[in-house]
Parts: sequence; C-alpha cells; structure tokens
Amino acid sequence: MDALTRIKDAAAAARQPAAMLPLRLSDIAARAAPRYTSYPTAPQFEESVDAQAYGRWLETLSGSDAPASLYLHVPYCRSICSYCGCAAKATLRDEPLVAFAARLRREIALVAERAGPLTVTHLHWGGGTPNVLPADLFRRVLDDIRARFALAPGAEHAVEIDPRHLTPETIATLAAGGVTRVSLGVQDFDPAVQQAIGRVQPFEMVRAAVEGLREAGLAGLNMDLIYGLPLQTLGSIRDTAARAAALRPDRIALFGYAHVPWMRPHQRLLDEAALPDPALRVELAETARETLLDAGYVAIGIDHFARPDDGLATALADGALRRNFQGYTTDDAPVLLGFGPTAIGRLPQGYVQNVADIAGWGRAVDERRLPVARGRALTPDDRLRGAVIESLLCVFEVDLDGIARRHGASPDVFAPALAELETLRRQGFVALAGGRLTILHDGPALARIVASAFDAYLTTSARHSLAV
Ligand SMILES: C[S@@+](CC[C@H](N)C(=O)[O-])C[C@H]1O[C@@H](n2cnc3c(N)ncnc32)[C@H](O)[C@@H]1O
Ligand code: SF4
Repeated sequence: MDALTRIKDAAAAARQPAAMLPLRLSDIAARAAPRYTSYPTAPQFEESVDAQAYGRWLETLSGSDAPASLYLHVPYCRSICSYCGCAAKATLRDEPLVAFAARLRREIALVAERAGPLTVTHLHWGGGTPNVLPADLFRRVLDDIRARFALAPGAEHAVEIDPRHLTPETIATLAAGGVTRVSLGVQDFDPAVQQAIGRVQPFEMVRAAVEGLREAGLAGLNMDLIYGLPLQTLGSIRDTAARAAALRPDRIALFGYAHVPWMRPHQRLLDEAALPDPALRVELAETARETLLDAGYVAIGIDHFARPDDGLATALADGALRRNFQGYTTDDAPVLLGFGPTAIGRLPQGYVQNVADIAGWGRAVDERRLPVARGRALTPDDRLRGAVIESLLCVFEVDLDGIARRHGASPDVFAPALAELETLRRQGFVALAGGRLTILHDGPALARIVASAFDAYLTTSARHSLAV
C-alpha cells in the first residue's frame, strides 16, 4: 500500500458530517500525507522525462551564471538498520565502492559536458552512508567536481555520516576536503530502542564523534533523531532529545518514523507490536519538541530545530527558508543536479530522477547515457501550487493572493482547496483572512495535511474528506 492509498483509506474513515466531529489532532496527524520535499511529488514523475530531455535541459544551463547545488547519493552502508527507509544496500567489501566511485565520476563528467562549468554553492553527500567510501575515492570524486565545476568561495559542503564508522582518518579526509557541515545519524540514545532497531550506537560513541569533528575544525554539525520507533516512551525520548541538545549541534532533525514494509521489506524485522500507536506518536513528537525548545533551539518547519544563531533560524526570521529534497535549507540555487542511483535533481524546467537500481544506473553510465529513469516537466499550475505548499511547510502560513498574483493566476483557483479545509477552519485549526491562510496551532502535525488540500494530484475522494 502506498502513501496515497493510505491517505485515501484515512480519508474514507474520516468521511462523516462535520457535526459529528470534532476532529482530534491525533486522528488528523494519523492520516498519511506526502512530506512535500518536492511538488509534484516523486510518484507523479513520468518516464516521458528521459535522458534526452534531461540532456536538453542541461544544455540550456551552459553559459548561465545561475548557481547550482550538487547532490551525490552514495547508495551503500556497512549494514542495513531495520527501520531504514533510505535507498541503501549493505556491503562489507570495498569492491562495490570502487566500482561505484568510478561510475559516479563518469556521471559527473557526462553531466558537466552538457551543463558547462557551473558555479556550485552547495555540495551535499547523502545516502546510504557516504563515510563508507574509502578516503582516496572520496578525494578523487571531489577532485573531479573541482575540475569540472567552480566551487564558490564559502560554498556549503555537507556530508551525512554514520558515527559508527567515523575514524580519525575519515575526519581528517573530510577536513582536508573542505567539508563545512556534517550530519550525524543518531536516531535514539536508549539502549533498548537501539537494540530493537538494529542500530547499537552508545552515547559515548556519538560524543566522541562530535568532539573529533570539532577538534578538526568541522564547525557545522547536524543530528538526526527519529520518534515513533519501537519501545520509545515519553521518558526515553525526552532523555534522547536532551542528550542530543547537550552536545549542542547547530541543527537537529526530528523525523517521524515512516513504517513502509511494503516498500522496505527489511522493516518487517521490527516488532510491529512495539510500535507506538498514533496517539503516542503525537505525544512522543511533542515531548521531543518541547525538550529541544526548552534547550534553546528554534523550531524550523515540520521537523527541524536550529540554534538561534544558525543560518536556518536566521533564514526563517528573514522569510528566506526553503524546502528541498534534503529537507529545510538556506539553499536558493535555481539548479540542483543529482548524481548516483535514485538521486533527484531540479532544473528550471522541472524535476529529474536517476535510475534507482545500482546495476541499472551503472550500466547507463558505462554506456555514456545519462542514467535518468523519470522526471516531471513543471506546468505553471505546478509552480503555483508548489509555492503554496513550500510556504505552508516552511512557515505554516501562505499568502494565497500574493502567490496567485506573482504567478499570474486568479486566487479563485484555490477555492476547491479552501472548501476542503472548511472543517479544519470551523474547528479552529486554520484561519483565512485577507487572502492569507494560517495554521493556527500544531503546525508540524497539520502542515502536510493542509498542504495536501492544494495538491492537484491527490484524488477527489481523498481531497473532499475534510470538506464535508
Ligand atoms: C542517510 S541516513 C543518515 C546517514 C547514515 N546513513 C546514518 O544512518 O547515520 C538519513 C536519515 O534518515 C532517517 N531515516 C532513515 N529511515 C527512516 C525512516 N524509516 N523513517 C524516518 N526517518 C528515517 C534517519 O534519521 C537517518 O539518519
Ligand atoms: S539509517 Fe543510515 S546506516 Fe542505517 S541503513 Fe539507513 S542509510 Fe544505512
């Protein structure tokens, strides 16, 4: 069952006269909705955007001075954690990594030949686990990027890191490679939860990683936590959030556990009976949230926290916060180029996604073809709705009239979405005044649901659930 089907099911269950409600937050939050790291979302991507289309899009960038972001997806880990929803494969050997790095370098060449020497303002390594790449391979990929693109002075260079495999040698390689931000996968500090999710990583190990990174001058530090995992209690998640905050990372992501065993069969290793129910999930999220706020962090969007002096917090205050495939960002580059299996890019014309299967991606690159699986050319309506959804996900508010005006559209186009949100409005969850829609409280729990009312690709039956 995919996310859309779950939305439909929850919607069908909720389809009842408004008088029979009130809606409870936990019921609303239990409805699945996309995370909207793009609009349209990845299930709407089509094969009509293929290697030829991407090639043409890339060629239009040639000679442009628009800044670009690069995303490099390393699809390997040393072992697979049982909760993991990422596109990752386990390898204990280095041979697959050697082959992968060679192909990644070929892909960088294929793209750069078409796009030209763009100026890069953000470089992000995700995965999987980028720190499984041996140091010499990491360096060679970076050398190629520097040779083919122009890394802007002060460019952000971020790497997702599994602290269980962070050696002093890796830290030295990251520092020498000019890495400015490291994102540590933590998830939970409770030993019982760690055991239950197949990822044993004591607090002392994370603390040593943080200290080692700071000593090497790697100033930017993020941490990922997850709520909704087996055996978590309000006490344990409070303790996890407090310990994470005590290490003072600049940013903390607090993700809701996405249980999708039909897509990630290894999640069946988790004891479903030990998973928190929807009401407890809301409380877990709330408890972690309050702990981070009490520790002085500023809430950013639906699932991030930042120290008040961090760039994300200032971007929020300045109205410059953005959302993309990596979550919340200060990156406003109009071009995002994705490399590696499953990687998604965004160009002025639309989205493009690489082949997911590592072997298929590698074959395409070996044959000197851009390894594209699908994508989405953006229509004016997509851009309009995308702007509405991004605003709701970033600041829980949207100036509908202003966005319509900037996109040359009539605000009437939003009438069906507003009708759909009428029940939430009558019950005080959202307000509409002067063409501005505001989520009044519980923004993190409600933003995706409210945003989904503006999603033109969700079916009519799902979309009418909140209106009646
Ligand atoms: C690519 S991993 C981070 C780097 C490294 N692989 C690690 O785990 O330390 C990205 C993050 O996605 C989050 N994540 C993975 N599976 C998830 C799931 N099923 N639901 C919610 N978040 C998940 C975790 O917080 C994880 O740290
Ligand atoms: S959470 Fe990170 S380390 Fe664990 S399997 Fe997923 S990508 Fe790999």
